[in-house]
Parts: sequence; structure tokens; C-alpha cells
Amino acid sequence: MALKSTAFRPIRKAVLPAAGMGTRFLPATKASPKEMLPLVDKPLIQYVVEEAVACGITDIIIVTGRGKRAIEDHFDVSFELEMLLQDKGHDKAFEAVRAISDMANFAYIRQPQALGLGHAVGCARSLVGDEPFAVLLADDIIHHPTSALAQMLRVYEEFGTSVIGLQAVAPEEVVNYGVITPEKVRDGLHRVMDLVEKPKPADAPSNLSVIGRYILDPAIFNSLEQISRGAGGELQLTDAIRMMLQGRVVHGLELKGERYDAGSKLGFLKATVALAMDSPELGGEFRAFLHDLKL
Ligand code: G1P
Repeated sequence: MALKSTAFRPIRKAVLPAAGMGTRFLPATKASPKEMLPLVDKPLIQYVVEEAVACGITDIIIVTGRGKRAIEDHFDVSFELEMLLQDKGHDKAFEAVRAISDMANFAYIRQPQALGLGHAVGCARSLVGDEPFAVLLADDIIHHPTSALAQMLRVYEEFGTSVIGLQAVAPEEVVNYGVITPEKVRDGLHRVMDLVEKPKPADAPSNLSVIGRYILDPAIFNSLEQISRGAGGELQLTDAIRMMLQGRVVHGLELKGERYDAGSKLGFLKATVALAMDSPELGGEFRAFLHDLKL
């Protein structure tokens, strides 16, 4: 099988699964979507939207569920707020608010039942159509000057294949991730020969774990329709990618940058500190505050 596909097409659409119940973050997420928790000064989901848009993506497809309406309101025009800010001369805040709804075309589709990540991505099929697309999981914050998706697009542009984001994790941690069987292409880049969702450490084929960034061939949708329930009784995206390996090449790129699991309380705190330290607006004072703590 040729490593390079001839069918290179630009990535215009991104799917953002956001239907999860946020159970790891209760009670904060009892009545508010996890994706709307503010990380420094923006809701979590805005980070992945901005990452996608900065990579040239024009269409953001958010897979939502019950109780997620605040996400739609956030990316919509807010006439009252914009008028109020203009009237009061708060130009900077006005620009920031206006920019959110101007960023991209936003479309929403419901995942009627929480049947897993694979099912959530499958729900977006009619909106994605027959073109390659990106999937970004808002929980995974990857802090690096070159965003995770931008790093992966370089590989996509080189090979024209599906690309999944990877990071090496401690052997005992593999149980939380999709894990690949790698065949090295070059430093940090692998061809994915197989993959398994949430293996026991003893069964893991490597410690190269899938991080929540994917560039996928639309063939994934046929695979998603054929898979059965996998790990945790859920329809797993990992299992559909595994099935797609029968006819398609998939690359895995080890992502540069510190990765935080912002879907967990501790990961969210770590991400908050890391991003606040680098914030142009708050970083100076925040670093001074941390320094004064004399830990
Ligand atoms: C999902 C994927 C898993 C991946 C992980 C990355 O798992 O199923 O393959 O490694 O995201 O964050 P989840 O965290 O939803 O259990």
C-alpha cells in the first residue's frame, strides 16, 4: 500500500464532540456544560474552535446533547450585549464578543444518546459529507506555540492520509487511552498498524496513546456504521479507525507540547495555571502571585 495518497483535499470542516455529561467534573457540571467552564478567560471549547479556525477551517460542527444550549448561545451573535458594549464605549470587549460569532460557520447536531465518541462523530456524517475532516476533543489542551492540529496538518499535507495525534504516556496510564501499534516512519512519526481502546498495561502494544486530535478520511463513516460496542460498552472511534486500516493508511504524529486533560479537575487546574502564566494580559501579575506563594 502506498504511504502517500494522491487524493489530497483541504480540511475545511471540524467536528467537536460536546455531548458528554461531564461526570468527572461534578458538581460544577450539574447544570452547565463542561465545555463552557472558563479556562483563564475563555470557555474550554473556544480553545479548540480557535485552534481549528487558525488552521483554515471554516465550518465548525458541534455535536451536542441535552443541557448544552449555552454552547450555541456562546458562538451566536448577542445583539443586546454588543449594543450595550458599544453604547458604553467598551470597544475592546465589543471586538472580542463580535469576533466569537464571526470566527466560522457554526452548525449543531444532537447526539440523542450518549453511546460513545464513535457514535458522536458518526452523528456529524450528513454535515461533513464526503470530504476529509478534523475531530478535536475540547478536553485535550495541548500547550505549544504550534497548535496540535497545525502540527498534524503538515503530515496530512505531506501524505494525504488520516493522521491521529499521539503522546507517549507512562505504561500504567495506557488504560485511559487508545493505544497504537507503531511502525516508525521517522522520529515522532509512525504508521498506525493497529490500535486498541483502553488496554490493560500488560496487553498494550506500546505506550503511544491517542490524544484528542484527528484528521480523518470520510471512509471513517462507513466503519463507524459497522462497529459494535467496544471498551466501556461504547461505540469507539478507535475501533472504527482500526477497521479503516484494512483499506487506508493512517499516520500517528507524536505531538509537541504539554498536554492537559481539562476534563478532569486536576488537569483543568494544571491547564489553568500553565495558560494563565503565559497570558499576555494576566501572566505578569499571576507569575508574581505564584512567586509570592513561596511553595
Ligand atoms: C477518548 C478516546 C481515546 C483517546 C482519548 C484522548 O477517550 O476514546 O482513544 O485516547 O479520548 O483524550 P475518553 O477520554 O473520551 O475516554
